Amino acid sequence: MGRLQDKVAVVTGASSGIGMATVELFVAEGARVVAADINDAAGAALQARYQGFVHFQHCDVTQEADIAATMAAAADRFDGLDIVFNNAGAGGSINTIEDMTGEAWDFTMALLLRSVALGIRYATPLMQKRGGGAIVNTASIAGLEAGYGPIAYSVAKAGVIQLTTLAAAQLARHDIRVNAICPGFIQTGIFTASDLIPGPLKEQIKAEMRAAAPAAQPLKRAGEPIDIAEACLYLASDASRFVTGTKLVVDGGMTVGPRQAWDPEVRAERARMMEARRAAYEAGVKG
Ligand SMILES: NC(=O)c1ccc[n+]([C@@H]2O[C@H](COP(=O)([O-])OP(=O)(O)OC[C@H]3O[C@@H](n4cnc5c(N)ncnc54)[C@H](O)[C@@H]3O)[C@@H](O)[C@H]2O)c1
Repeated sequence: MGRLQDKVAVVTGASSGIGMATVELFVAEGARVVAADINDAAGAALQARYQGFVHFQHCDVTQEADIAATMAAAADRFDGLDIVFNNAGAGGSINTIEDMTGEAWDFTMALLLRSVALGIRYATPLMQKRGGGAIVNTASIAGLEAGYGPIAYSVAKAGVIQLTTLAAAQLARHDIRVNAICPGFIQTGIFTASDLIPGPLKEQIKAEMRAAAPAAQPLKRAGEPIDIAEACLYLASDASRFVTGTKLVVDGGMTVGPRQAWDPEVRAERARMMEARRAAYEAGVKG
């Protein structure tokens, strides 16, 4: 008996990375899944891999009608909706506040924030019919602190965290739980998704990022999509039945504090610097 036995889920951003790992885990735990994405080829391959358990639905989450149709597909194909993972995303605008345009800002908000609000909006009546449900939204550590993403992306993800809190408060009376996950640095295609990066360079960047990942946070290994999928499974399943309105940080400790708080090499380097300064001072005083 799987932890999501006979549940019906929608996962957006299902054709790659965190979304795909979550579809795989959900199916392994007994769920049937509507996998939604703009990447039709990868989505069709996912559906073919899990015939009868995964239905691929083309869905551009910047389009309200696509989101509504995706939720409706869960009811049409699998008779209802219990779980939604609002996860689709990309880096959005890389502009700074000094060269931001209204268009770039609006696109990023539509992709990362409005999409989540509308995902919740269109899931709610279907979950009410089932007597409740679980919604999980992908935020980011970039929504918690500065320095982890471009400005529009980070503001959108901060919005996802607050949206999660407010939606949880409003939907608790329907027994619908709403929670967010804040991933840290996870090895997916998101960092090389831009069409501006040529194919061979993408692979090189991916390899460099994977090599650098173990040193990026206190836990010395790369963050993988399955790490987020497992967190999503917890928040989607009955194991978290008394949890709503929260954010689960899954970042290998990246946000525990400044590097000197956890990296012994940095502390040793600082100690060496202090010792050199003290020695120079003493030499100066004595000289
Ligand atoms: N990878 C990380 O380090 C990291 C960290 C924090 C948060 N996140 C968030 O995790 C989520 C998933 O990203 P990922 O890392 O798995 O990246 P990914 O690029 O591997 O997957 C993102 C998926 O979203 C899809 N997508 C993009 N735009 C879409 C649209 N308009 N409509 C529907 N689908 C769309 C892509 O086709 C892709 O399949 C995103 O919301 C991202 O912001 C990722």
